[in-house]
Amino acid sequence: MPSSLPLRISCGIFAPSQKAPPPWLQADTILNLSPKETMLPLLDVQHLTVSFGHVPVVRDLSIQVFRGRTLCLVGESGSGKSMTAFSVMRLVPQPGRITSGSLLFAGDDLLRLEEKNMRERRGRDISMIFQEPMTSLNPVLRIGRQLAEPMEIHQGLHRREAEKRAVELMELVGIPDPARRLNDYPHQFSGGMRQRVMIAMALACSPKLLLADEPTTALDITIQGQILRLLGKLARERDMGVLLITHDLGVVAEAADDVAVMYAGQLMEQAPVSAFFERPLHPYSEGLMACAPLVGNHDRTRLPSIPGMVPLPSELPEGCSFSPRCPHASEACRKAPPLRAVDEHRLVRCWKAFS
Ligand SMILES: Nc1ncnc2c1ncn2[C@@H]1O[C@H](COP(=O)(O)OP(=O)(O)OP(=O)(O)O)[C@@H](O)[C@H]1O
Ligand code: SF4
Ligand SMILES: [Mg+2]
Repeated sequence: MPSSLPLRISCGIFAPSQKAPPPWLQADTILNLSPKETMLPLLDVQHLTVSFGHVPVVRDLSIQVFRGRTLCLVGESGSGKSMTAFSVMRLVPQPGRITSGSLLFAGDDLLRLEEKNMRERRGRDISMIFQEPMTSLNPVLRIGRQLAEPMEIHQGLHRREAEKRAVELMELVGIPDPARRLNDYPHQFSGGMRQRVMIAMALACSPKLLLADEPTTALDITIQGQILRLLGKLARERDMGVLLITHDLGVVAEAADDVAVMYAGQLMEQAPVSAFFERPLHPYSEGLMACAPLVGNHDRTRLPSIPGMVPLPSELPEGCSFSPRCPHASEACRKAPPLRAVDEHRLVRCWKAFS
């Protein structure tokens, strides 16, 4: 985390994680990579467009996730963050569909895989923590079974070994009395505990790529910090790539190596985390930062907010889609700005930032 970061997260509220991951989870499952392979993105999303009918909700999006690094996807509600993650899983809800682009994962275009191969990838290589835990837990299956079964199927573990690992995972994510709770059903867990179960499930098969959609929103701030640090630690130690979706810049500060800012379905800015917080280049990023709680200011109600709302995908303004809310909008902004590199590591989509 950059030392100059003026966010609440920098004021040391989080207690350090008490749990060390079990050895089987720490073990690197993607060893034997050539130096060239380690430099390539693990996930390379190129020109992704997702539409509902004729209305695109993700527009020509290109992002990369690297091994051992966390890319945070940030933006207000409705900006297309979840649809991006669903696309990588090939689980865009009907009637939505991917209308163009490619999703290269470890060399394969996921969009070209047979459904059977894609299912294997989902179980074994790519995991997702969904924004709404209840929708992805089976209400009539005990939590222990839901955790152990994928390890039996994808890793060939015997039932007893898989259940032992399930207990270790539950302990790791801070579920008290895990051996007993293995026998409980999802409705017997609180919202926060269900979110932890989801995180445990996502880690169970030691994925190479983890997509985490607002994984810590229902958790208190101490646990949130512990979980985010755990994910970061696993990413570094196991060379796991993480795409972490959030609207909370505190989470970004805690967890990101790189930041991608989305607005109205488009990538507006991308930067390494320290450069982003030191000098955001896009007016939307500046606005998000102005809304983030500052050190010593715990009164969220007094924070400034960006005026107006994210436009509906079917009602985008002419030119720059942020222009109705932008304090710097000018005549030039009636033409849509392209996404441009401003240096080796940074991209921005804004006429003012180019000048
Ligand atoms: N079933 C649907 N039919 C039509 N439009 C949809 C549907 N589901 C989502 N959308 C639209 O797709 C856009 C992107 O949605 P998405 O869920 O990706 O946003 P998000 O950035 O994840 O927001 P949040 O922070 O609220 O989770 C939104 O404008 C939403 O209205
Ligand atoms: S292009 Fe213009 S309207 Fe859009 S963010 Fe930049 S200054 Fe604001
Ligand atoms: Mg979402």
